[in-house]
Amino acid sequence: MKLAIVILAAGQGTRMKSKLPKVLHTIAEKPMLEHVIDTAQSLGSHEVHVVYGHGGEQVKKCLSHLKVHWIEQAEQLGTGHAVQQVIPAISDNELVLILYGDVPLIQTNTLNTLIQMVDDNTMALLTAELVNPSGYGRIVRDAQGEVTQIAEEKDATELQRQINEINTGILAVQAQQLRRWLERLDNQNAQGEYYLTDIIAMAVSDKVTIKTTAPHSISEIEGINNKKQLAAVERVYQLRQADALMLQGVSLRDPARFDVRGDVTVGQDVTIDVNVILEGHVTIGSGTIIGAHTIIKDSAIGDNVVIKSHCYIEGATIEEKCQIGPFARVRPETHLQQNARIGNFVEIKKSQVGINSKVNHLSYIGDTIMGNDVNVGAGTITCNYDGANKHQTIIGNKAFIGSDTQLVAPVTVGEGATIGAGSTLTHDAPAGQLTLSRSEQKTRKGWKRPVKSS
Ligand code: UD1
Ligand code: MG
Repeated sequence: MKLAIVILAAGQGTRMKSKLPKVLHTIAEKPMLEHVIDTAQSLGSHEVHVVYGHGGEQVKKCLSHLKVHWIEQAEQLGTGHAVQQVIPAISDNELVLILYGDVPLIQTNTLNTLIQMVDDNTMALLTAELVNPSGYGRIVRDAQGEVTQIAEEKDATELQRQINEINTGILAVQAQQLRRWLERLDNQNAQGEYYLTDIIAMAVSDKVTIKTTAPHSISEIEGINNKKQLAAVERVYQLRQADALMLQGVSLRDPARFDVRGDVTVGQDVTIDVNVILEGHVTIGSGTIIGAHTIIKDSAIGDNVVIKSHCYIEGATIEEKCQIGPFARVRPETHLQQNARIGNFVEIKKSQVGINSKVNHLSYIGDTIMGNDVNVGAGTITCNYDGANKHQTIIGNKAFIGSDTQLVAPVTVGEGATIGAGSTLTHDAPAGQLTLSRSEQKTRKGWKRPVKSS
């Protein structure tokens, strides 16, 4: 049977108290609806249909990179009505799985179990036992333990409300049967809505067996209605990622103080201290150590790199054995070659730093190609911007740049050149020689400090 997945995402989300449609609020910087779509696609579904409503144009625009079939539900008349909008786009021989745009933690293995339970004469419900089931539809069973109906909280009898088994809303059913039952839905209930859950009693009267299964973890079925729940789901998601990385061998000093907002590939024996955030696509080589309070975004970090605390690294390539920080900012298009060292309060932008080269203190290096074994003294600045254009600085192998030097680009420092401390370089410095620009030092003999007049 081909798998068609329907994601209901038309709800308003008033309780988010936000201008942003609910399903665009993010978990790990990714809209919650995109998490559900990604999970849906991981199941190998032949088509993913998203029923949208409130803020629909914005939702479609934000997720336009995803291959899904968008269906509008102009008025939100209930979950059954939402599925009615999409059923014409689904053919009879398909298996339909219903998911929710605001239940983003649902897992592939749970859904696979559910799907596999469906056949010509069986539909499958994902249910859960909750200590506090209030608000949910209850799973009503007969004396033999067979499901007979779902009773919505507002329609349930006092006795039914005491049932702890709840409807998660997620279900799998044959399209042909679903179509037939959807045609018969009405809104004669406490909420005046077309309830998808009413198909259960119809299935029972059509002698279709209802099988149930539970999620591997209760957190999978957590729905998001407000910012508190959003934050709680974020924590669950982050712990899940931390667990996965630890099982791959990463040492996390505290899995509760570690966030991944993207995807990470790691080597062996990586150690990550507290409050580290990894964003976008990050790769980390074996034996690398990342200090506390560091953010790494869209970067490739090699083997045996040491990143000390409080660094911000973005769009960079860091080769093996480099040392960075503490308090360093490495900006996009930076390439540090093997064993380079970037120290405290150093900013590097769009530059290459050669093998064994060091920029250890208080410097700005931008638009620079630096060779190997270069030593850049404290307080060195590449003046790469003339107010209109950016210009390049080239520093040859084994050059030594004295402290507090300004390299006014475009400028080239030759191989093995030495630049005297405090220089402002406006012309190229030849290889192998000492170049400095500095006014001569004078001492005034007999000079006395002024004294305060009384
Ligand atoms: C629904 C179930 C309930 C279950 C609960 C789990 C029904 C009738 N009830 O109740 O048994 O325990 O979910 O959370 O299905 N939606 C639309 N269009 C609509 C209405 C809803 O797209 O017209 C979407 C919402 O965006 C939301 C989801 O469907 O993502 C559930 O809707 P909601 O109104 O929250 O249903 P509940 O009353 O919570
Ligand atoms: Mg709800």
